[in-house]
Amino acid sequence: MKTALVFSGPASVETELLIIAAADSQTAKGKDAKPEPTLLTSDAAIQAAASAVLTTGEFKAGANETLLLHAPAGLAAKRLLLVGVGKQAKATPHAVRAAVGTAIRSAKPRGLRNAAFVLPELAELPAALTARAATEGAILADYDPDTYRSDRKDQSVYNFTLVASETNKADVESGYNEGVIVAESQNFARELVNEPGNKLTPTILGQRAAAMAKSHGLKAEVYSTEKLHELKMGAFWSVSQGSAEPPALIVLKYEPEGVTDGPVLGLVGKGITFDTGGISIKPADNMEKMKYDMAGGAAMIGAMRAIALLKPKVRVIGIVCAAENMPDGKAQKPGDVQTAMSLSADKPGKTIEIINTDAEGRLVLADGITYARSLGATHLIDAATLTGACVVALGMINGGAFSNDDATFEKFQTALATSGEKFWRMPLADEYYDMIRSDIGDIKNTGGRWGGAITAAEFLHAFAEDTPWIHLDIAGLAWIEENKPYIAKGPSGVGVRSILEWVRSYES
Ligand code: BES
Ligand code: MN
Ligand code: ZN
Repeated sequence: MKTALVFSGPASVETELLIIAAADSQTAKGKDAKPEPTLLTSDAAIQAAASAVLTTGEFKAGANETLLLHAPAGLAAKRLLLVGVGKQAKATPHAVRAAVGTAIRSAKPRGLRNAAFVLPELAELPAALTARAATEGAILADYDPDTYRSDRKDQSVYNFTLVASETNKADVESGYNEGVIVAESQNFARELVNEPGNKLTPTILGQRAAAMAKSHGLKAEVYSTEKLHELKMGAFWSVSQGSAEPPALIVLKYEPEGVTDGPVLGLVGKGITFDTGGISIKPADNMEKMKYDMAGGAAMIGAMRAIALLKPKVRVIGIVCAAENMPDGKAQKPGDVQTAMSLSADKPGKTIEIINTDAEGRLVLADGITYARSLGATHLIDAATLTGACVVALGMINGGAFSNDDATFEKFQTALATSGEKFWRMPLADEYYDMIRSDIGDIKNTGGRWGGAITAAEFLHAFAEDTPWIHLDIAGLAWIEENKPYIAKGPSGVGVRSILEWVRSYES
């Protein structure tokens, strides 16, 4: 999809599909209150073209509701698509993101190759955020996970135009530019997550990350087995030792010119390119889904891409611990004891008793977190498809979020307001840590059935220690099970937008 921003009146825009947002401006309550669909444009020609249908009651401007009109009178566009954002008083840029996405996804199967969206002007909708959300909605909606379909019909909308008036011109421009960068970065993450395990090994994930880094001016280093041994990353290595595919320790660095002090943000992603469970092997049903067990890593790579292009004034290190979790004669076994990487040269790392080889994400992340700290990270965020327990707790609506520092979490909460992603804070407490104390070593890698998302977080906490840290469990969000009106089922790219905003909140 190519995108453009034009400042002009909407009536003269030549396009196959002109998209206009509409809201329900009814404020009365009660069962007699009828919806009042109101177009979010002051343009008289558009108002006139849609006036007849708005009085019939067949379009209520509910969220993601659409109505298509052909050959609208007085407009240069071939079609006019009305799309609802719901109640006007509650209209948000997030509703606009979804509405534009819905419009683009309805254009795709119709074979329409170009579309334009008229930026709504409404007090509830700040210009920059709304322009950004609209642009994101279009680019995210155009993505379909059909790379490997030989009957792939190219149904992309080739050209998307955001149409705006000159009011708030600078805000609209910056919002639009950000929207393009952010959504393309999120789609980049989705492409990685969509790749099957045979096409995206840890080595190939490393190559893809390094190629991205090269084209956008990030430093990239991709290490493998030797470096893991050198750093004594016994936890990370224990996961990869059962695979014929070597691990990849992917390190991306963003070092803006002139920024030599202030925070160093460490982004650590779980990059299990396939999770069989290892010797504690998973059942066959749905195991194919475990190709998306690198979605946390992909989110970090996508976020680093957006950071490279948006250039915030803060240093960022992105680390992805990539490995394949396989059963094998050389695979680790339940009962094995592994020694994690240590932060200090004169003290060995924590010993981990492996109870279940399927709790592998926390093992690779433990060493990733320690490594980020050893490189000077002052604040950490990790993302991982870590536990099924998190999906049990929060469903596929909210991701789980954990933090050892309220001020750091506060910044993340603010980032969510911009990103529109949903995460719910879950507790940490010493009593949960007690559940993963080992009789044999320092810590064990599972804590039993109850509170599984929390004991997994406490495991990571033991390695983050006092460094301000946020853990995101995205197991329920990284893969969308059902088509939604505004986004395809498949890889979601969740995390990219929120992690990016959190990073930007540290700008000096
Ligand atoms: N990758 C899985 C978690 C997962 C489950 C991600 C469902 C996406 C969807 C993780 O490595 C895992 O296997 N976790 C185990 C932990 C258990 C053995 C303590 C789980 O959640 O069952
Ligand atoms: Mn697992
Ligand atoms: Zn896993």
